[in-house]
Amino acid sequence: MLKQHLQELQLQTTPFYVYNIDLLRQTLQNASAEAAKYNYHVHYALKANANAPILAEMLQAGFGADCVSGNEVKCAIENGFKPEHVVFAGVGKSDEEINYALEQDIFCFNCESSHELEVLNELATAKGTKARIALRINPNVNANTHKYITTGLEENKFGINAWELESVLDLLKTLENIELIGIHFHIGSQITDLNVFKNLCTRVNEFQEWFIARNITLQHINVGGGLGVDYYNPDANLIPDFAAYFGLFNQFLELRPGQQVHFELGRALVAQCGTLISKVLYIKKGISTNFAILDAGMTELIRPALYQSYHKIENLTSDKQEERYDVVGPICESSDCFGKAVMLPETNRGDLVAIRTAGAYGEVMASGYNLRDRVNAIYL
Ligand code: LLP
Repeated sequence: MLKQHLQELQLQTTPFYVYNIDLLRQTLQNASAEAAKYNYHVHYALKANANAPILAEMLQAGFGADCVSGNEVKCAIENGFKPEHVVFAGVGKSDEEINYALEQDIFCFNCESSHELEVLNELATAKGTKARIALRINPNVNANTHKYITTGLEENKFGINAWELESVLDLLKTLENIELIGIHFHIGSQITDLNVFKNLCTRVNEFQEWFIARNITLQHINVGGGLGVDYYNPDANLIPDFAAYFGLFNQFLELRPGQQVHFELGRALVAQCGTLISKVLYIKKGISTNFAILDAGMTELIRPALYQSYHKIENLTSDKQEERYDVVGPICESSDCFGKAVMLPETNRGDLVAIRTAGAYGEVMASGYNLRDRVNAIYL
């Protein structure tokens, strides 16, 4: 698809992100059709990519918004999401952020500690309003993913641990301006082994029993996001297996009558539709390999430097014989490397390089380190 649009890509100033809106639509249609089979509600996790044209597609697909900062809540609402379709999670919500979300009367705060509940109650009381909340519970389920994106183990900072729940319930009885409407879980990201979600369902079912034993009926269960994508074969696996994913929850989650299930997908919806395009600046001989030095670096896409993550790299403009390259950026850090010993057709100054599967946690994590310019985006 990128090669078909080569002329258009060559006209742009590099580096830039290119988003394939057709593919995004197909992905969202598939996800929403599979979710609709079980009447599941999806909130799109804005943290993966908050560009307005992407948000417009999410809205069109009927998804709500999962936000982790006041600015994300604001961004969602300004881009047309109804406050009643917005949820707000995060371990460190500031008073200003909470106040803003209270004023917008968002659907639900996903609360992560008893201290946060006390502050939320205070702020809601001062405003003469009530906050709807879900308790984010840390289920201690291993997501089998990179440790930096594992969130559901007791050692992680996220959620309320099981042994604290009894005291949190006691506290909630004293907080008059808080209404408990659900429970929330999110165990990690880039989860490719679906069995992990089966384990999550087992834990969720246990927590449900626990609440029922205390005469608490929950309106919704939010199982978070985390479905992974295939970074290695983006062309073969353009659309994640949403049928298997939602089907698994349908098979293993035990619901009470009238209870809704909410999901917070980010990566699986947007990763494959985005590519970072960069130009080769220089070729430099190293000891064992050549360096292809790009004009994009970790400032535009930090995932390889931060998580040692793999992104497929392609040379869009050369079809010569393959050689081995370390593909690196211009930033003053040795971790500024997109891939080591990558086989690419003979690469020269001026060639266009595509770094695939970069639609999620790419542009949003860009930084101004080394006083770099903001990265541009185009939509095809
Ligand atoms: N819900 C909560 C509470 C989350 O913390 C996250 C992601 C999501 C939903 C969406 O998860 P997803 O469906 O996208 O896996 N920067 C990292 C990923 C960090 C994910 C943080 N939380 C990366 O580039 O891999």
